[in-house]
Amino acid sequence: MSIQRPQGTQDFLPQQTAAWQYIEEQIRALCRRCGYEEIRTPIFEATELFQRGVGETTDIVNKEMFTFEDKGGRSLTLRPEGTASVARAYAENKLYGQTPPWKLYYLGPMFRHEKPQAGRFHQFHQFGLEVLGTDDPLADAEAVWLAWTLCAKLGLSGLELRLNSVGCPVCREKHRAALTEFLAPQAAELCADCRVRLDKNPLRVLDCKNEACRRLTLGAPALTGYLCPECREHFAETRAYLAELEIPCQLDDRLVRGLDYYRKTAFEILAPGIGAQNAVCGGGRYDGLVQEIGGPPSPGIGFAMGLERLLGALAGQNVTLPLPAPPSHVLIALGPAARLRGARLAAELRSAGHVILMDLQGRSLKSQLKFADRKQAAFALILGEDELAQGIILARDMRTGEQRAIPLADLGCRMPLT
Ligand code: HAM
Repeated sequence: MSIQRPQGTQDFLPQQTAAWQYIEEQIRALCRRCGYEEIRTPIFEATELFQRGVGETTDIVNKEMFTFEDKGGRSLTLRPEGTASVARAYAENKLYGQTPPWKLYYLGPMFRHEKPQAGRFHQFHQFGLEVLGTDDPLADAEAVWLAWTLCAKLGLSGLELRLNSVGCPVCREKHRAALTEFLAPQAAELCADCRVRLDKNPLRVLDCKNEACRRLTLGAPALTGYLCPECREHFAETRAYLAELEIPCQLDDRLVRGLDYYRKTAFEILAPGIGAQNAVCGGGRYDGLVQEIGGPPSPGIGFAMGLERLLGALAGQNVTLPLPAPPSHVLIALGPAARLRGARLAAELRSAGHVILMDLQGRSLKSQLKFADRKQAAFALILGEDELAQGIILARDMRTGEQRAIPLADLGCRMPLT
């Protein structure tokens, strides 16, 4: 049997990559306008980075990492997310020593060994954005605004912003005691994972997807009721900015997110049209992460958007992207001498910025005209041995079928033909 792609991965063929490129260009343009710069980090990192950064009790670290040993016996992991890598790069390159904040974004593949299903892949792509070096609530609101605006500008409707504050270690400690007290009598009914979580990090129980655990946690004490004055004020200010930016949000005190580094702000953007996995974006503040992985205390806020989910939602809502189609020309050169001259002509016109397609199989005039039709070329430029001898080229308007002769020497300055 022929070799097939690994489970949970996808090939994106040219019909699809045009949409990817369009979205990536919109992302880059919006980031540029808001002062974010691109960062590129390795696809794999030391496993310990994610164990310490994302957290030992998370599903990502416990069950979903693609981990392997290199030839020197070091444990490496394909990155399951980008925030820990950016925090590592920030600490390792001592970016904190320069004037904060750092406003960074990235685009690239991430890897999680989740059960493959609609909207969940082993290899998927994220647009992520991180602001490091400030705890100003305006940074939180700006990040949410950017994610929201991107989704809306691409044409998604029915978007829902879920917002919560998961506090800081001070508020968490008090909440942990209350939550443990609430859950302890029902411990035996929790799933095996949650029984471990109850001991190590009971907040994670609120994030369990198991139906029984979800039922048992109904009415559990909400973290927002335990926020310290500083976290409460931060949350109120973030909400005030979002209200000013006219981004409607739904407060959701069960939103704890699947990664351990969050503090204060936590949010998700949901989009209808893609079934159960409807979170196109998730993010929040992670003021302890840089320190956790060995850097100096540095606040941070960010989000990541799943590009497959974004594209899935756009398709589910029948949004047609305005994909640019520059006018193209098919150069049809017939006969050895014309093909030689045609090759040079195509190179000259391409270097001047025109889209020139050329047959690479020596096909007949008829089949090359069909090819021009299929490619929706504006013009076919026909160069046979006769035209070559006369120093002209025939330009055939593919919509009307009209043909005119253009001196070969003039073609460059007459392009693009209309
Ligand atoms: P996350 O919520 O784990 O957060 O992932 C962000 C987004 O990535 C999700 O909302 C979803 O759209 C997409 N995603 C996650 N897993 C998969 C999958 N298996 N298949 C397809 N899409 C998926 C993070 O990754 C954090 N690093 C976000 C962040 C940045 N927080 C602060 N800064």
